[in-house]
Amino acid sequence: MSLLEVRNLKHKFRDGTEALRGVSFKVNSGDFIILAGKNGSGKTVLIRHLNGLYIPSEGEIFFEGKPIHKQIKWVRQNIGMVFQDADSQIVSQTVWNDTAFGPENLRLPKADIEKRVSNALLAVGMMELKDHSPHNLSGGEKRKLAIAGILAMDPRIIILDEPFTNLDYTGIIDILGQIVKLHKSGHTIICVTHEIEKVLYHSNRLIIMDRGLIAEDTLPEKGIFNTHKYGITPPMEEREGIEIVRDMTWLK
Ligand SMILES: Nc1ncnc2c1ncn2[C@@H]1O[C@H](COP(=O)(O)OP(=O)(O)OP(=O)(O)O)[C@@H](O)[C@H]1O
Ligand SMILES: [Mg+2]
Repeated sequence: MSLLEVRNLKHKFRDGTEALRGVSFKVNSGDFIILAGKNGSGKTVLIRHLNGLYIPSEGEIFFEGKPIHKQIKWVRQNIGMVFQDADSQIVSQTVWNDTAFGPENLRLPKADIEKRVSNALLAVGMMELKDHSPHNLSGGEKRKLAIAGILAMDPRIIILDEPFTNLDYTGIIDILGQIVKLHKSGHTIICVTHEIEKVLYHSNRLIIMDRGLIAEDTLPEKGIFNTHKYGITPPMEEREGIEIVRDMTWLK
């Protein structure tokens, strides 16, 4: 049984925009999926359905074989999302409290919460900033904080919407390192990105969306030859620095 299954998902907004026009796919445990597609193709709308933030106009989504609307709390614990806009994810006045927000909602014992938060902040290298206000963090730090919040929840699937936007080189390497580590430790990853080359060598599937439909669901090494058909920037092998993205031996 697949971990997550989307069947014939359609979403029509009130203004008549048909953002999703019949999307079907399955996510298997351990997948590392790149979700690509040009601006407005439906990527963000699709992933917002996967943990129940949007309600489908038609179609169904199953997590572990059961419809998600029948187990929404369980689904939100197990499908973590790092949003395109890191600011929208800030919920507390300090980095520590922000990371603790998820586990606190799970009503875990205090000692467990502290352990989860401290492990998560150490993992993303943010422990020194634990008393800082999240609003004053840099863009890269905010994204790391969002990842810490996800780590503290320990979900099975982690969905990242444009995790590399507005990051400098070090920021990209840090975040990419976190994503690869999460995948290696058994999490299933869905990474929405226009920057395919950054995650290409770690992924096992490339899903391309086009005008509210899945146009391709294929092996990354096959799909990259079709990117031009869908208005997606092709990965550039010759781009300076690509080797460090491919070679993860530097990862501790
Ligand atoms: N709240 C809304 N009301 C009406 N239309 C919407 C709404 N949200 C999104 N859309 C439309 O749905 C379509 C898909 O949007 P979506 O945000 O999923 O695109 P995307 O693939 O994530 O694009 P990008 O790469 O720019 O982030 C677009 O045409 C968008 O204008
Ligand atoms: Mg988007």
